[in-house]
Amino acid sequence: MNKIDPWEVKEVKDYSRLMKELGVDSFQQFTKKLKNPPLEVKRNLVIGHKDFNKVYDCITKKKEFAILTGLMPSGVFHFGHMSVINQVIYYQNLGAKIYLLAADLEANLTRKIQEKEARKIALEEYLLNYIALGLKKKNLVFYFQTSGPKKVQEYMNLSKLASAETTFSEVKAIYGDINPQKLISALTQTADILYPQLEGIKTTLTPIGFDQLPHANFTRDIASRMKFSLPAFTFHKLIPGLQGPNTKMSSSKPESYISFDDDEKTVRDKINKYAFSGGGATLKEHKEKGGNPDIDVSFLWLKYLFEDNDKRLNEIEQNYRAGNLSTGELKDVLIEKINYFLKQHRIKRERARKQLNKFI
Ligand code: TRP
Repeated sequence: MNKIDPWEVKEVKDYSRLMKELGVDSFQQFTKKLKNPPLEVKRNLVIGHKDFNKVYDCITKKKEFAILTGLMPSGVFHFGHMSVINQVIYYQNLGAKIYLLAADLEANLTRKIQEKEARKIALEEYLLNYIALGLKKKNLVFYFQTSGPKKVQEYMNLSKLASAETTFSEVKAIYGDINPQKLISALTQTADILYPQLEGIKTTLTPIGFDQLPHANFTRDIASRMKFSLPAFTFHKLIPGLQGPNTKMSSSKPESYISFDDDEKTVRDKINKYAFSGGGATLKEHKEKGGNPDIDVSFLWLKYLFEDNDKRLNEIEQNYRAGNLSTGELKDVLIEKINYFLKQHRIKRERARKQLNKFI
């Protein structure tokens, strides 16, 4: 059953089949209902959910709900990390209380990243960029797994008590080949997700990547046995890495991503050299037969990250399909968008740096 390993992200080719097999509902109906949704939602990167109706009910009736999600502090902050935080900021602006944790314990246990290093990455790479992207201090709880949130004893105990509610055969059925470190990480993640309920908040939503689905199932099983409410989840597809539509951005492969620290020249060079093209083999062929935007990483990045104007995106798509827009021209559009974004972002980040201390 373990088609997905949350610690070893593989490429997923057929999301809709996997969703059916694994009992994940389509997010489509909410994509249309949510007002001014972030790009991730509008462009269908968020494809699945569990129990989102509960959250939607809170949004429309202005009832209390919380967002809880975590970040694994394991390397540089790149554009593959944007999907989660944009959703968090969207819900924060709708009035949700936000619980954001740095999974420093998990980073230590599963990636051998020491506490000091993990803390540094969490603050200087992730939190700093989150603030620059619009995360606010109001209604935000930020904590590290190793030191815990406010009700620290209950949090620490919860992860241990949760172990009484499962068995090795269940754990193996959900995670496949698992070791003690991964099991502790999974139980800690369960405590993370249920924690807002210890502070009295009934409805919670955890937006995560599709690769984290096993954690969602595990947590919901344990929640029902421990008489918690079932936490809701949304799942998003991963934004492709530069090497192709079915590859991922990986912190250990700089040629697979653009980071928030890449300068203008690096951006230009990486896109020109690595961004997988769906265009024709030669300019002549491209003009005759057109390109395929569905597999073209430059187009997909515009769609999921940089071009929020639907009309403009549509024009680019049509022109590329028709062969009127070449791969080089498409790449130039993307490069300009990224560099413009990063230029603004660097200014916002310097402002954010001054506020960082207030967030911890
Ligand atoms: N396992 C997550 C990751 O690899 C990090 C994480 C820890 C998390 N606790 C969480 C994510 C709770 C969502 C909710 O990125």
